[in-house]
Parts: sequence; C-alpha cells; structure tokens
Amino acid sequence: MAPVDPHSYTDSLQPLTTHVALSLSLDFQSRSISGTATLTLTRPYKGQLFLDTRDLRVHQALDSEGRSLRFSLDLEDSILGSRLVIDLPVETPWIVVSYSTSPHASALQWLEPSQTAGGNQPYVFTQCQAIHARSVFPCQDTPVARVKYTADVEVPGDTRVVMSAAHLERVSLDSGRAVERFVMNQAIPPYLFALAAGDIVHEEIGPRTRVYAEPSVVKAAAYEFANTEATITHAEALFGPYEWERFDVLVMPPSFPYGGMENPRMVFLTPTLIVGDRSAVEVVAHELAHSWTGNLISNATANDFWLNEGFTTYAERRIVEAEQGKDRVELQIGLGWSGLKEEVGRFKDKPQFTKLKTDLKGVDPDEIYSRVPYEKGFHFLRRLESQVGRPKFDKFLKEYIAEFQFQSIDTETFLAFLKERIPGIGDEVDLDKWIYGEGIPVDALEPRSEILDKILELAAQFESGRQLMDADTQNWQAQEWIVYLDNLPKKLSSKQISMLDDSFHFSRSKNWEIRVIFLTIAAHCDYKPCFPAIEDALHSVGRIKYLRPLYAGLLESSPEAKQLAKRVFSDAKPKYHPIAQSVVQGLLTQAGL
Ligand code: BES
Ligand code: ZN
Repeated sequence: MAPVDPHSYTDSLQPLTTHVALSLSLDFQSRSISGTATLTLTRPYKGQLFLDTRDLRVHQALDSEGRSLRFSLDLEDSILGSRLVIDLPVETPWIVVSYSTSPHASALQWLEPSQTAGGNQPYVFTQCQAIHARSVFPCQDTPVARVKYTADVEVPGDTRVVMSAAHLERVSLDSGRAVERFVMNQAIPPYLFALAAGDIVHEEIGPRTRVYAEPSVVKAAAYEFANTEATITHAEALFGPYEWERFDVLVMPPSFPYGGMENPRMVFLTPTLIVGDRSAVEVVAHELAHSWTGNLISNATANDFWLNEGFTTYAERRIVEAEQGKDRVELQIGLGWSGLKEEVGRFKDKPQFTKLKTDLKGVDPDEIYSRVPYEKGFHFLRRLESQVGRPKFDKFLKEYIAEFQFQSIDTETFLAFLKERIPGIGDEVDLDKWIYGEGIPVDALEPRSEILDKILELAAQFESGRQLMDADTQNWQAQEWIVYLDNLPKKLSSKQISMLDDSFHFSRSKNWEIRVIFLTIAAHCDYKPCFPAIEDALHSVGRIKYLRPLYAGLLESSPEAKQLAKRVFSDAKPKYHPIAQSVVQGLLTQAGL
C-alpha cells in the first residue's frame, strides 16, 4: 500500500481514474442523490481498487462486461471517510458503481424553500473542496487524479441545474421531471466538481459571462459583477489566454460557506458581495485568477495548498492593480498583512501550521484552514518578484503556467522549476526558510502607502481619544473603513463602541466586511447593545469567514456572551452548510460548551 495523498485512500500501485460519467437523480424530499458513477481507468486493470467515499450507500459495482464485482466499505475514518475496496478479478478498463448519498453528505447543502431568496423552490448545492467530493460520488478524491467528466442530472421539472461543466441540453421527461446534461472536457481535480440546482435564472453580462442567481437576486447581481469582462482581459494580459471558454458566476444562497469557490466555468460566489457598489472586485479577481493558479496548475495535496492560494492571492492583486491601481492594492495587502500576523498568533502553540509546506497527515484540512497559505504565499512571491524585478518574474510566471498546465504538482516541483529558470535565486532569497520555516521571514516586504499609513495612524490615535473627522474620511470607500476598523484596538470600552456605532452605524452596515469586523469587536468586548445585531448576522449568513470571528468573539467574552453563542448556534445550525456547522461546533467544543 502506498498512498499518494494523506487525505485520500488512492493507492500509487493502482491506476488513476481519467474519466467519470455520472448519471444522477436528485430527490429533494429524501435529500439524496442516487445514480451511477462510471470510472474509466488509465489502463485495463485487475486486482483491488481503492476509492474514497463518505456516507455513501453503495448498492452495486460492475465491470465493463456487466459482471457483478465484490466490494466492501471499511469502517469510517473521521477525516477520510470510508475506503471502498472493489475486487476486479478480470482486467477491466472501467467500473460502474451504483450508489446513493446521505442526507448528511458533507459536500451537500439541501435548502428548504424558506431558506432561499424566492421562497418557492428547494435548492441544493455542492462544496467539494477540500475533501468532500467523496460524499457526492465514489472517486479517487485527490487532486493528483485529474478527471474529465460528464453528468446527466435528473431533477423536478421546475428546477434548473448548473455545473462546473458545459451545459449540453435539457430534456423534459414524461414523468414531469427533466434531465440536464453536461460535459467537462478538461481534466480537473475532483474538488472542482460542482453542482447547484434550484430556481436559477441568468443574465448576460459579457461575451463569455453570465450571472446566474435566483430570480429576485439576478438583477442586482448582474449590476454588481458588470465589470467582469474587463477583469478577465486584465488577467489574460498577465497570465496568458483564459483556457476554460466561459467564465460564468453563480450567486449562491446566503448559507454558502465561502466568499467564493473557483469551480471551473461556474464560479460560486457568496451573496454578501452584493452591496450595490461594485466593491467586491478582489473576490471575483481571486476566483478568476484560480483559472490559472489552482485550476490549470493544482496543488498535489493539501500539503501544497499554498501553491493554489498563495499564487492566486498574488495573481488576484496583480489583476486588481491593473484594474484599480497600486493604492487600492496596497490597502488590500495591508489588510492581509495584519491578518497574517493575527494567524501566526493564533497558531502560537501549533507553529507547524505557519509553514508554507505543511504535513497534514491526520489533520482535517478544513479545520486548520487559515490565511497563512494565502498571505505568506503571497509575500513569498512578492519577495521573489522584488528580487528579480517584475519583467523577469512575469516571464517566469507565464512559463510556469505553460509548463505545468493541467497538472497537479507539489512544492518541490515548483522549487526545482524556479531554480532552473532563475539560476542563483537560492543564493539571494532563503527559499528553505520561506517554504519550510515557521512564521514570517524577516525579509518579507511590509506593505506601505500614503493612504495605508494614514489610516493606520488614525486607528492608532483612536486609543488616545482622537476621533474621525469628516475631513479624514471624505474620500473613503469601503476598503478604507475596513482597514481602519481592522486596526482598532481589540479591547474598547462600551463608551467607545457606542460612540463609533452612533456616528457610523457599523453594526448595520450594508457592507458585510465592515459589519462583521465591528460586531466582532462588540462581541469580544461584551457590548450587549450589539447582541441583537450579532444574533441577526449569525442567522443571516453562513459564510465561515464571518461565523468564525463572531462565534469566537462571543466565546472569549462573558458567560452571557457564551450562552448567546450556544443558543444561537443551536437555533441557526440547520441553516449552515455541513462544513460551517463543523467549524462552529469545533469552536464551541474548544470553549468547553
Ligand atoms: N478555494 C478557496 C475556497 C476554499 C478553500 C474552500 C479551501 C474550501 C477549502 C477560494 O478560492 C477562496 O480562497 N475564497 C476566499 C476568497 C478571498 C480570498 C478573496 C473566501 O472564500 O474568502
Ligand atoms: Zn482561493
């Protein structure tokens, strides 16, 4: 036995899957998907085959001749799920597995009509990263096993389906149900498999972009993301042609656990971005940037996650710089920098998680998810850029993408390529310290700009009683406010908090970043007048980025605040995605609740 990935049962002695054909039927009543997965192997194979599953019921396995195959499901591992072992007594080029998913499948969230914007139809969506594809279909759930796929998805007649794939056709059935057919002809890691079904409509916003959303949301969404084609054009100038043909976006229900997910051809976005001011550019730029860094070149395993997120954060900021200028980006980098320092503090007792290259054997990747791979990865690449100069680094980036596209690589492969293309770089930058060392290397370039410095100064002066004046904030957009709030002291008096809220109404800001940073301070400081707003926020959105600090803030606060956290979670839990549920549950457990 030789595992290729600490988070998968995939065995290096067995052939990988190259193609998955799914034939699925969605049942909103029983909250289950049932159907077949046909897995084609790199070569005809005889022997044992190991697949990843989580909470799947496997009904039958057949070989290419229709012969029934013996199989067994191992006991469940809490992180990996259950290994499915299939015996192939005769060589077979493919296998067909019939199965159904559990109502508790970790990738799937089933929403009642009342949990959608429209309130009339149920909705379901997947979130497969990090290791949840295995709860939707049996597979070799490691990015190393890149697959093309087709999917036929049967749904109720009034339901629309979107996927991370090209839509082929919709066929109405006599039963009143319908089948939507999709094909994905580019090989992707299983974590990029994606599906959503519900009352979904779309608007064209560009030559290769539509915004998909529920009918009551789609207009506002189309407005918010109207500049997407310009963003794609900037990205192509930096990183080469966009290889995925279409760049559509789906605006999710509020319980979507992330800001964005880079599902190819169909990025999933949180509705919290829809503020009406088009301020969400960096999230769109980020998910778009994954089209090169993450989707074309993927991390081999979660140990190399920084190759996905560090490169993408770097690429995102290059795109935003091209679109909006250096000042805007420096604010973003400033926010990231303070976030990085905070995370390094959070991992004080587990400093191994502040390395770029990690060893996550036995560790749930969702549990140690942090800003470190994003921000430290970004700073590593920025350090390299500053060493060799931008023109040379840009050339290197394009070569890197061309060399490894449609592959899943590890950190060492990247390092070897870097040293080959930029000889001597290892003498100028301490690569080992950046990759294998803990914390923030001393040669990281601290963000600075006139506006950033000014805001940091204003925030620092708040303690000594200096309040914001109209003249300070005249030209401020959301970003400036966010940086300001983010840099205020974490302990404020009730008087200070109420003064801020009376002047600026942060606790009900339309901008969720602003609202949550402020409410987190309020939670920390046991500021009870904001408890209703906190409760409201925890009921309204399921984005982990917001749930985590709000719950953590309450849990580190007074006994009443802790009780509030406990009560709100027990009320709101059914609204959260399974991944978000387990993150919050982890916080409560840690706090002894
Ligand atoms: N791929 C990530 C989201 C993710 C990571 C989901 C790991 C599950 C496991 C996505 O690209 C991302 O980074 N989203 C950020 C956007 C932000 C950095 C602009 C988010 O959701 O906050
Ligand atoms: Zn990302």
